[in-house]
Amino acid sequence: MKDSLFIKAAFSEKTERPPVWMMRQAGRFMKEYWDIKNKYSFLEMCKTPELAADVTMLPVNLLDIDAAILFSDILVTGEAMGGDLSFTQNVGPRFANPVRTQADIDNLQVEVGDKLQYVADAIKVIQQRLNGKIPLIGFAGAPFTVMSYLVEGGSSKDFKLTKLMLHNEPAMAHQLLSKIAQVTADYLNLQIAAGVNAVQIFDSWAQALAWDDYKEFSHRYIVEIISKLNRKDIPVISFCKGSSVFAPLMAEAKPDVVSIDWNVDLLDMKKRLPQGVAVQGNLDPHILYADKKVIKDRIHKLFERMRDEPGYVFNLGHGIMPDIPFDNVKYAVEVIKEWH
Ligand code: CP3
Repeated sequence: MKDSLFIKAAFSEKTERPPVWMMRQAGRFMKEYWDIKNKYSFLEMCKTPELAADVTMLPVNLLDIDAAILFSDILVTGEAMGGDLSFTQNVGPRFANPVRTQADIDNLQVEVGDKLQYVADAIKVIQQRLNGKIPLIGFAGAPFTVMSYLVEGGSSKDFKLTKLMLHNEPAMAHQLLSKIAQVTADYLNLQIAAGVNAVQIFDSWAQALAWDDYKEFSHRYIVEIISKLNRKDIPVISFCKGSSVFAPLMAEAKPDVVSIDWNVDLLDMKKRLPQGVAVQGNLDPHILYADKKVIKDRIHKLFERMRDEPGYVFNLGHGIMPDIPFDNVKYAVEVIKEWH
């Protein structure tokens, strides 16, 4: 795998063109996803290795992207720790037993390897199907983001209860974050042992935090997780929304790649990061709603800017929205693959 475009770019080696994969590349914008989703629940799809492999392979076969990403969810760690997790159409994820008191935190498990064995099994099936064609990216949620779902009991706009715990009960918050961090490091190492070729840590909602709170309650746990990874030959990607603010700090956790949102000029940001840290990004996913001419122009503009810059992986600044036309995503991949 070390000769694949994606692994080379992630390790800051020169590639003939930027490799492409997209967050949420296996999802609702594809008719073929719905063909499976209409028969099974989302969690059944995650927990049945053959189904998780079927979905993981959709963008490999239909879009011909340069890296596959495991089909799963960041919240499976919370479930393995004892969260009563469900996903409901149009509601999103829900934990029916939110974590709000010391007793709730004490009840959370940290030895959860067996409960996540289905992910290792899925990785093995996916790798058989990929058969060395392209790398497989594993992933986990960062402690702060997973904490927010556990504390709020689901998605949130303002993270009110989570931030209240950070501010009023910092010792409790640290115990919770520390438990999640331990599980997350073990979980990523389980994925690495099962055969993933890269891992991405999603701190989707870190942008809700003030700078000092980000350092204390998010960043330090990502440092801890990355330092525990068995990462020989396995690039580590760090993602958060709001990375245009936090990227230089994210790089201090020593990932190989920092994933960048669309608020900044990508080359300017890359120059602010230490030598040898690659960047991933940073097309606004809304561009994929626009006319094909706009899609092509924006990708070319980005690639012209990043030309001759080793250590660049194309991605969106955040995941593909469910109503983005499939045809536009396919077109974007074609434009990228034709770049020279
Ligand atoms: O990128 C991929 O294609 C791989 C699969 C993947 C999913 N979730 C599948 C999914 C990945 C990498 C994730 C990560 C994830 N999950 C994040 C971090 C990335 C980000 O978007 O910031 C977060 C915050 C979650 C939590 C989550 N899962 C939410 C908030 C929701 C509901 C909202 C939504 O977009 O539907 C999910 C459900 C989910 N995870 C779906 C998929 C394909 C939709 C399930 C369905 O079909 O109903």
